[in-house]
Amino acid sequence: MAQSRRSVVMLALAIALGLRLMEWIVLGGPTGTGTGIGIGTGKATVVSSDCSSDAAKKKTSSSSTPRPRGLRLVLMGDSLTRYSYLSLVYFLRWGTWYDPDWHTPHLVQASSFDNIFHNQTWGEHSWQTNRMLWPNELCDCFRKMPGAVQVNKVVNNRYFYDPAYDNSVVYLDAKGHKGTLHGRIAAQNVSRLLYQQGLAAIKLGPSPVLPPMDKLQRPFAWVHKSWSDAISNYVAQLDPPPNLIILNAGLWPNNFLYQHDLIDDMVRALPSNTKAMWKTTSFGKGGKVLHKSIPETDALLCSKLHSCWNQSWTQHVTAKYYWDDKHFFEPVYRIMNEDLLEQIGSLPEGYQRLDRSVLFQK
Ligand SMILES: *[C@@H]1O[C@H](CO)[C@@H](O)[C@H](O)[C@H]1NC(C)=O
Ligand SMILES: *[C@@H]1O[C@H](CO)[C@@H](O)[C@H](O)[C@H]1NC(C)=O
Ligand SMILES: *[C@@H]1O[C@H](CO)[C@@H](O)[C@H](O)[C@H]1NC(C)=O
Repeated sequence: MAQSRRSVVMLALAIALGLRLMEWIVLGGPTGTGTGIGIGTGKATVVSSDCSSDAAKKKTSSSSTPRPRGLRLVLMGDSLTRYSYLSLVYFLRWGTWYDPDWHTPHLVQASSFDNIFHNQTWGEHSWQTNRMLWPNELCDCFRKMPGAVQVNKVVNNRYFYDPAYDNSVVYLDAKGHKGTLHGRIAAQNVSRLLYQQGLAAIKLGPSPVLPPMDKLQRPFAWVHKSWSDAISNYVAQLDPPPNLIILNAGLWPNNFLYQHDLIDDMVRALPSNTKAMWKTTSFGKGGKVLHKSIPETDALLCSKLHSCWNQSWTQHVTAKYYWDDKHFFEPVYRIMNEDLLEQIGSLPEGYQRLDRSVLFQK
């Protein structure tokens, strides 16, 4: 079992890398940011529609699924926010959403990466999903396993940039006010590292020289106690700068309800031309409100920030789309992301949305 899963993963990786190389060559490398010749959706889409995912083959229309362009997003929040990020950047990378039928492993379920190579499920998930997005993503990811999460030691920040469609999406791990925001990559180094990774992917040819699994803790390059400091001192230094910061606290303890100045400080910390959006906490399995403080917190933040990414519809999602009491399988995150893209005016012309009622059927 482990052996066959391993071969599937290796095969998928080989195909992904091969396609990527073709795409980089066709598109003329990482400097081609959508303005040069032949960068048109045509070529890029042809390449990505060949992506190994079954979804691409089942839906004949997927070869023309238009991708958004020019996204400038930063997401700060919990594991649900991280899975939304993964769902979105997988689509941006390949032009097709992750096939929900691929359960072993599943993009948005860290525990499904158990025992493919070894015991380090969490590291394995970060590493393999980073490979799926190669060379467009940096994963600043480290967690000492086994053992419980140590909030001020675990690192889980991810940086995606696709030069073909000029999309930048960053995920920063934020556990409410339980711990610090921190990481090992300086904001001003992110774009250079991504650029070098893109170049390396071209130069190294077909030999899959991919990032080694991160088994050693390295020192932090940045640590901030408050979200507003993280916004003004880290997020604001990212290149390209975001135009939208999406925030959420989920189930992590936070003081927003009792200290409104924490919210005002965040809004003040925003760089000019950057808006803040609150992502509400989705419902747990069986339509459960996961903590009594959540509805009030969501209502407050949604009213105080510029906009609201409302997940209230998840109350009706059938149990089979959950892999534990609160985390979803695809296509739940896909539908969330389609809501987001539509709300911010980034759903391309002619894009066909998935009908969310499929998630409500037993
Ligand atoms: C893998 O996990 C099992 C059960 O948690 C444990 O007994 C075993 O020692 C682990 N093996 C390695 C190589 O870490
Ligand atoms: C940022 O890049 C510079 C120049 O390569 C390097 O010296 C420095 O160590 C990097 N810092 C971090 C924290 O990544
Ligand atoms: C989210 O949408 C639902 C349904 O429209 C609404 O009842 C709820 O108040 C909204 N939540 C927030 C926080 O705005």
